[in-house]
Amino acid sequence: MEENEKEISGFSKLTKRDKISWLAKNFLYASPVEILKEFAEYWHDNVEAQKLLDGFSENTLTNFPVPFGIAPNFKINDAVYAVPMVTEESSVVAAASNAAKFWISRGGFKTHVISTKKVGQVHFVYRGDKEKLFSFFAGIKADLKKSVQPITAKMEERGGGVVDMELIDYTLLEPDYYQLRAYFETVDSMGANFINSCLEEFGKQLAFRIEHNAAFTTLEKEIEIVMCILSNYTPDCLVTAEVSCKVEELGTFDYGNMTAEEFAWKFQRAVNIARLDPYRATTHNKGIMNGIDAVVMATGNDFRAIEACAHTYACRDGIYRSLSECKVENGIFRFWLTIPIAIGTVGGLTTLHPLAKRSLELLGNPNAKKLMEIIACAGLAQNFAAIRSLTTVGIQAGHMKMHLTNILASMQANEDEIGKAKKFFSDKVVSVSAVREFLEKLRIPG
Ligand code: MEV
Repeated sequence: MEENEKEISGFSKLTKRDKISWLAKNFLYASPVEILKEFAEYWHDNVEAQKLLDGFSENTLTNFPVPFGIAPNFKINDAVYAVPMVTEESSVVAAASNAAKFWISRGGFKTHVISTKKVGQVHFVYRGDKEKLFSFFAGIKADLKKSVQPITAKMEERGGGVVDMELIDYTLLEPDYYQLRAYFETVDSMGANFINSCLEEFGKQLAFRIEHNAAFTTLEKEIEIVMCILSNYTPDCLVTAEVSCKVEELGTFDYGNMTAEEFAWKFQRAVNIARLDPYRATTHNKGIMNGIDAVVMATGNDFRAIEACAHTYACRDGIYRSLSECKVENGIFRFWLTIPIAIGTVGGLTTLHPLAKRSLELLGNPNAKKLMEIIACAGLAQNFAAIRSLTTVGIQAGHMKMHLTNILASMQANEDEIGKAKKFFSDKVVSVSAVREFLEKLRIPG
């Protein structure tokens, strides 16, 4: 191992301690002993449990703890859930909990899965007669499907498999480029490995069958498979969640004597703004994803996939828009969210990560459809809480409360100091220096 070099080969082969020591020497200021001590504080006491975590990734040095919290009182299709949420953002769990509590006495969340289709693509280059290619593809479609039976047999037993496939001509946009787009049902698994295995076989089969068919010319036989991969855009893996009540049931608002009716209209206006302006829509949808990602994380699912898909879906008509909608009509307030969520409840981390497993147990070991519904409700709750704050007291009031709590904790404030600080800052701007000054004065003896 080279000392004091920022470049290294064979890093992955070093022991965990040597990796840390090398990093400390070359990139950090504290001594290797101190860095090792700090990193080791986050190692799991149980060696086997640590081995499991290490196995989820590579070059693992330690664990990076993120809070695991619970938003209780979620009434979803008449069942009540305590929803696990993993997030580092303060006030996300509090906001979800508040919204859930608010709606539990107003009928709760109603939700259903619209569709569960997933998508994969074989991207290929073919230089030749288009019609020949399309009619050949139509002829071998059933055989292609059969060719992946060793991969699909188990999935078919569970009610999934390859649903359909089509050939798409993209040659107007990219010379000689075609796409085999396949549709899959993966039941309770996210299905990424399943889909990718099928796609790679489709690619091989397609190339082989063209190469060995006398109807194709030498040039046509030189079909080139560019890549085979699932698409994270799953507009037909869709779930919708809704809350509604009579406008007068929205209650009263402390803020500026606002009536329920004024609140309903203002809320609808805020959502409409997010439907027409991409700048606002991005922040609005970020609020939705605060709730969605936290449950996706807690259940061991891939939040990057869910994020990527949600934002593509948000601009499906060419303009990036809010994923949620609101309507105040005939005295009824309706607020709903429709979003693609491709997740699983079997396979991957969902069963391997002990806390993801526990999260699923907390939710009654749901199937994928039920989990899609729960996640959509968490997104809608989060969005409701954000828009309610924004259109009434403003977002800073809640954020500042959490900020104050965090600052007080970092300054080791006791119960008495916390109570006094909360009272003092109830109508003042919170900052680290203002809280320090307040505590210093309070701590002066006598
Ligand atoms: C902050 O993480 C999320 C919000 O900005 C969402 C919104 O503005 O709707 C509060």
